[in-house]
Amino acid sequence: MQKKGFLVTFEGGEGCGKSTQSQLFCQFLKQKNINYYMAREPGGTNFAEYIRMLVKDVTFEEKSPLSELLLFEAARADVVDKIVKPMLENGAVMVLDRFYDSTLAYQGYGRQMDKEMVKLLNKVATEGIEPNLTFYLKISPEESFKRKTKDKLDLIELSGEDFHKRVEFGFDCIAKENKNRYVIIDATQDRDTMQKQIREIFMERYNAFQSK
Ligand code: TMP
Repeated sequence: MQKKGFLVTFEGGEGCGKSTQSQLFCQFLKQKNINYYMAREPGGTNFAEYIRMLVKDVTFEEKSPLSELLLFEAARADVVDKIVKPMLENGAVMVLDRFYDSTLAYQGYGRQMDKEMVKLLNKVATEGIEPNLTFYLKISPEESFKRKTKDKLDLIELSGEDFHKRVEFGFDCIAKENKNRYVIIDATQDRDTMQKQIREIFMERYNAFQSK
């Protein structure tokens, strides 16, 4: 069931700059007096933020891939129920720093779990809510890890080069399969250039959505 609001998601691998870009984008929405709300995934509620800590914690390296997948979905179910669904029902622009495409890319492609199972769990946790527009900030893992401080890496970042290459391949495939909502932004560009592209594309798509 699609709601009255407009859902914008930011996706990409590690260090692609999506948190900075989504925050700058929210400043733009504020300037434009557009009713919006922003959350990150995993996170956005107290419970989901707690799960965020758990999934990133290197102490729990040994946990099974299925338990990791279910933790991401549990976090998602909570933020969808408490924030995403009500905001969309109110007609807001909901901005999400990651959503279910990350689960397919990281757990489906990265951890090599059954993709159909991941898709099914995504559908359950999101109650069928789909983004109207997704910005995929594309940068290779080789390039993006140059931006990270090695001693501060979390459990998922530490999953290895092959893992992160599979995640990148995953996002590429998801983008091809969802051409209508996916927009690829070259994340090797500078911050302001990327933001300008994001704002222009959003306004085009949002105006078209509103005039329907
Ligand atoms: P980030 O939002 O700061 O990138 O941190 C979230 C981390 O969790 C990142 O490594 C990607 C990972 N992740 C998954 O593995 N599966 C998911 O479903 C989501 C939402 C994130």
